Amino acid sequence: MSRKKELLSLMNIDVSWLNDDVIGKNIFCFEDLKLDADNCQKCILAKTRNKVVFGKGNNNSKILIIGEAPGKEEDLTAEPFVGRAGKLLTEILLSIKLTRDDVYITNTVKCRPPENRNPSNEEIKSCASYLDQQIELISPKVIILLGKVAAERILNSSEPMASLRQKIHSYKNTNIPTLVFYHPAYLLRSPNEKRKVWEDLIFMRENINVS
Ligand code: URA
Repeated sequence: MSRKKELLSLMNIDVSWLNDDVIGKNIFCFEDLKLDADNCQKCILAKTRNKVVFGKGNNNSKILIIGEAPGKEEDLTAEPFVGRAGKLLTEILLSIKLTRDDVYITNTVKCRPPENRNPSNEEIKSCASYLDQQIELISPKVIILLGKVAAERILNSSEPMASLRQKIHSYKNTNIPTLVFYHPAYLLRSPNEKRKVWEDLIFMRENINVS
């Protein structure tokens, strides 16, 4: 029995109708993974979190956006990027005629680090299998990394943001083009840098075919 069926059975939910003909394999596995993450106790963030913020949006999207970690509002709502930085991200997407339902948004770690500190290497490592499997299941045409923490996690590079953006990287040994954008929270703190996000969107439009 799959992990998902096992968990649903433990909750006394009838699983006899669940089979791969009823639910596509991709969605089935994605839901399995979410259930696993929702019950995760792999690192100390499990002790202080309110809700696991697995990710949200279209899990068949061609565009996957990866941020750093849930903040206070995300921890309360279980949704990524719902605070001020999230509102700016929504506006950035709307400027290229995308809604949040057109993309999939997640973070390097799925639980809020206390006081919004950066997630530790150990926490990022504990959460790695969730993010790796999300990328595999979504199989996007482009990955957008928001900020340095996401860039370091995915590209394994500690180069400064200024030299990572405006370049096409690739995710592990795949051909998935991967771009680095400034984090919306940084843009809120440094409004003069906001125009750089427009340069990055133009760079994406000119270099990546997501159709
Ligand atoms: N909210 C998130 O979900 N992630 C971030 O990186 C910042 C705010």
